[in-house]
Amino acid sequence: MNPTTSELLARRKQGHALEQAFYTSPEVYQADLESIHYREWLFAIPACELEKPGSFVTHKVGAYRVIIVRGADNQIRAFHNACRHRGSIICKVAKGHAPKLVCPYHQWTYELDGSLLWAREMGPDFDPSQHGLKTLHCRELAGLVYICLADEAPDFDTFADIARPYLESHDLGNAKVAFESTIVENGNWKLVWENNRECYHCGGNHPSLCRTFPDDPSITGIEGGETPPKLQAHFDRCETAGLKAEFYLHGDGQYRLARMPLNEGAESYTLDGKVAVRRWLGRAPFADAGSLLKFHYPTTWNHFLSDHSIVFRVTPVSPTETEVTTKWLVHKDAVEGVDYDLTRLTEVWMSTNDEDRRVVEDNQQGINSPAYVPGPYSPTQESGVIQFVNWYCDMLAERLAPETMAAE
Ligand code: FES
Ligand SMILES: [Fe+2]
Repeated sequence: MNPTTSELLARRKQGHALEQAFYTSPEVYQADLESIHYREWLFAIPACELEKPGSFVTHKVGAYRVIIVRGADNQIRAFHNACRHRGSIICKVAKGHAPKLVCPYHQWTYELDGSLLWAREMGPDFDPSQHGLKTLHCRELAGLVYICLADEAPDFDTFADIARPYLESHDLGNAKVAFESTIVENGNWKLVWENNRECYHCGGNHPSLCRTFPDDPSITGIEGGETPPKLQAHFDRCETAGLKAEFYLHGDGQYRLARMPLNEGAESYTLDGKVAVRRWLGRAPFADAGSLLKFHYPTTWNHFLSDHSIVFRVTPVSPTETEVTTKWLVHKDAVEGVDYDLTRLTEVWMSTNDEDRRVVEDNQQGINSPAYVPGPYSPTQESGVIQFVNWYCDMLAERLAPETMAAE
């Protein structure tokens, strides 16, 4: 008999990659969704994507389909994308604009706040107020929209209070999406994260990113002891100029913020290292402020630069498929072709994403073999991977524990 997810967790070898089942098994995948993605706060979209009342986007997380919409009162809300009549999907497209949300099946019509406005011939006893769209938790943090599928959402305010001072100077409320890309990587979502949390692979795989991004574990990893003096000097320079910069890793390991320097002289992720956008998004006092690196498990890592910002969203699709969406944000008044060239703005991360997709897919292919044996992580180069895997295993073990006890 195959070991259960709890048994796999109990026999895990610390400091080593996970066993094959964590990356391939439908049971573990379901446990991941139910214990993590269906319960945690998930980054969904930048708020600027919903330009005006009636703007909406749809999103799919596991079995859930979600609509995120800006209401007539400008508030952003999230609803389950399922009609309260017989359950049809209401919004079928990825994004759009609508004065009301109309179900395509029998045209039940909902207001942008989810209340049911109109349903034809439902009889005298029908109560529209009992048939509004089902809401889910939705919070906006400094221009970033997070959702939570759980009935009772975990605390969001602690994260928001810590992250807001770092994010505010980037002025995401005045951003627009200059470009977006969605790819599906043929790899488990944890492999996408493991790859993201180290730069051990950067030198051998990311020629364009390495022009500006330091291949230095003190920058990509997690703080291990003393902050190197050069890094501390960078933090101090930013903080003196009003940019929150100091490394912060939350106690439970779910999120990290740090404004890290780029390579000497580099300003942004471009091939020549200079800023990509003339009209900056945010209030950086100098171009070489580095990149505010923020991750928040299980769905997002981000780079906030002096001239533009890049947000990434990671969504599991199946045990061996993961969607990665990247959005490049620039100032809403920056004009393409005048203030920025779209290719120059996007080419480094378009290449980097594709290179990462390739290494993740190769990793998955190797793990699929019965000959796969989990090997050790480098304690210096892969401290961030160890940190992610520990967070994941602790979270899963904690959430599976009551079930195990009930079964005994
Ligand atoms: S299922 Fe939506 S109107 Fe019938
Ligand atoms: Fe990479």
